[in-house]
Amino acid sequence: MSEAAIEVENLVKVYKEKSPHPVRALDGLNLTVKNGEIFGLLGRNGAGKTTLLRILTTLIQATAGKATLLGMDVNRDALEVRKKLCVVLQENAVDIFLSVWDNFATYGRFHSIPTKEIPRRTEHVIEQFELSDYINQKVIDLSGGLKRRVQVAKVFMVDKPIVFLDEATTGMDPINKRATIDAIRDQAKRGRTIFLTTHILEEAEDLCDTVAIIDHGKCVATGDVPTIKSLVSNAFDIALIFETLTNETIQNCRSCPC
Ligand SMILES: Nc1ncnc2c1ncn2[C@@H]1O[C@H](COP(=O)(O)OP(=O)(O)OP(=O)(O)O)[C@@H](O)[C@H]1O
Ligand SMILES: [Mg+2]
Repeated sequence: MSEAAIEVENLVKVYKEKSPHPVRALDGLNLTVKNGEIFGLLGRNGAGKTTLLRILTTLIQATAGKATLLGMDVNRDALEVRKKLCVVLQENAVDIFLSVWDNFATYGRFHSIPTKEIPRRTEHVIEQFELSDYINQKVIDLSGGLKRRVQVAKVFMVDKPIVFLDEATTGMDPINKRATIDAIRDQAKRGRTIFLTTHILEEAEDLCDTVAIIDHGKCVATGDVPTIKSLVSNAFDIALIFETLTNETIQNCRSCPC
């Protein structure tokens, strides 16, 4: 098997291509994710993280460039690619009218887990994500953080070589965040490749073997967390607040070299 789980070459995605205001969400992006690693994609709002994740999970197609998963082209071999992955999307995708238990059972059936096996796996994730108090409740009646927990927990029902998580821990309290991070580590120990997006450097630091920073649709830095931190160790974000701004101050600020 190739050492790379995911390879992305010169990937471009332009939304609203034919409109007067096209949006270039990915702009010649390159990156490689090794088999079995936890890979974190960091970037500010609108950097292109979800766009990349949606292309890699075959939900949308790139405008140009190439992306492969386990050597398979995400466009040409989309059906085969889908069999190799599971994904937690940024937007909630739980069946709100089903109970927590039924959400897991349906997801298991959808992924062809043998019927006899479903209760065992459901019990395992319910315990792992501390959801036992809610199993009979309809998801619509749960708090936002709990809904998210059910959605994230679902992907841990199935055994797929690559797991995609788009800001999986957003909206969770610190205890749930910890349970999710532990579950991700547990998956990685079993040899799965984890591709996650986050805004939070500490989360990436805690979890990831490799981190890539994306900005305006381009990969601007990649490496392990100490390498990435060393790149920004002499960078400072300074905010100055003035009660009044004289013309002289404005001129001084404009001529500042930073
Ligand atoms: N369906 C769409 N149509 C038009 N523009 C889009 C669409 N989806 C995303 N965009 C734009 O593409 C750019 C990248 O968006 P994307 O959702 O990939 O960013 P992100 O890094 O995931 O941001 P966030 O951290 O806020 O989730 C943004 O400018 C966004 O407005
Ligand atoms: Mg996003």
